[in-house]
Amino acid sequence: MSNKMWGGRFESGPDAVMEEINASIDFDRKLADYDISGSLAHVAMLAKTGIIAEVDAAAISEALIEIRGEIEKGDFGFSRALEDIHMNVESRLATLIGPAAGRLHTARSRNDQVAVDFRLYVRATIDTLDSQIEALQIALAEKALVHAGAVMPGFTHMQPAQPVTFGHHLLAYVEMFGRDRSRFQDARARLNECPLGAAALAGTSFPIDRAATARALGFDRPTANSLDSVSDRDFVLETLAAASIAAMHLSRLAEEIIIWATPQFGFLRLSDRFSTGSSIMPQKRNPDAAELVRGKSGRIIGALAGLLIVMKGLPLAYSKDMQEDKEGTFDALESLSLCLAAMTGMVRDCVPDLARMKAAAGAGFSTATDLADWLVRSLGMPFRDAHHVTGRLVALAAEKSVGLEDLSLAEMQAEEPRINKDVFAVLGVENSVASRTSYGGTAPMNVEAQARRWLGLLGREA
Ligand code: ARG
Repeated sequence: MSNKMWGGRFESGPDAVMEEINASIDFDRKLADYDISGSLAHVAMLAKTGIIAEVDAAAISEALIEIRGEIEKGDFGFSRALEDIHMNVESRLATLIGPAAGRLHTARSRNDQVAVDFRLYVRATIDTLDSQIEALQIALAEKALVHAGAVMPGFTHMQPAQPVTFGHHLLAYVEMFGRDRSRFQDARARLNECPLGAAALAGTSFPIDRAATARALGFDRPTANSLDSVSDRDFVLETLAAASIAAMHLSRLAEEIIIWATPQFGFLRLSDRFSTGSSIMPQKRNPDAAELVRGKSGRIIGALAGLLIVMKGLPLAYSKDMQEDKEGTFDALESLSLCLAAMTGMVRDCVPDLARMKAAAGAGFSTATDLADWLVRSLGMPFRDAHHVTGRLVALAAEKSVGLEDLSLAEMQAEEPRINKDVFAVLGVENSVASRTSYGGTAPMNVEAQARRWLGLLGREA
């Protein structure tokens, strides 16, 4: 039997393989609620403009709401033979109300229909992700405020560089996630135009009111070009790009947590709630959640690359290739949501080992720059000369296997006779961080102020 929605010119139904490659209902059923919202807005407009009769519109609306209830309750029988969510809903509509159901698809195509559905889905998902990222920022900023003055090593090249504070390090991520939120908001602002009424590709001869459907669905305006309306997936790509960057940030934080939680570093302990054991090695506490956050960034970034590749060769307007936009997007955005939840839990629960962090902060001659800066400030040496003198003192300390602060004044004076005992004041890690008062620097006073500023912005007056 040929397809009852579009099979007029067909004699036989599709091959089983054709049905399998063509059907999207197994995944696009996720769009059901948005599909029904789109149809409700469309049918109300069709009645208001006199394109269809009020009685038909009322019957259609009522049945659509009933169908929404069936789907919510899990009572809806999805059929692969009906290809996708649009035709599944319309077919059920026909069963419920008979021939009037056939009027819903007036002045509309599945091409503009799916574009609306997907925009509504992406928009709602951005809103959920935004509040999840906000929750993570709050968790980070609250920890940062508590540990504004807790000294830890700062690294470049993964080598000890200069002491920073734990709070400062956490606030670096608050900044990153703030940019992620603003990228999602940018994408949201641009996607909020309604493609409904573009129909298949050319618009329609019916006197539709596109502004009305746009308004009813919470869009700022209708899209301006019908070809673009049905062939554009920029809104998905931009959202996946924002998601990929956020996932990359999460992955970097996960990587740091994994390193910090090793016995070798011992900078922090993850809670039992976010650790796992080994089936063979009883001593193990594995940071699996952090590893999975790091790992899942792969599939999120993969979804962006996948869709860019799907889109890049497509002539205008719609081609069925575009049905491949959904699974990767659903998977990527759901993965991101899960990663955000896991990371927020890990951050809230983790307990830093402040003594270990502080001890590590002093290792590796991390106050060498402070010494060089002191030579410049107190002795008026050019920085390059100060750098050289400090380098020689570092070499001496390394040779003796002691810290810079353990060298005697005499040993220092052998290298530079004008050095005096005041130098010892800048060699401690606390002094080092306290001196970094430049805007954006790691001085505990700055960090505390920044943590408070963020908590204020995040609605958590501290
Ligand atoms: N399931 C399709 C998709 O996701 C809906 C649009 C179908 N349009 C068409 N002309 N066959 O892209």
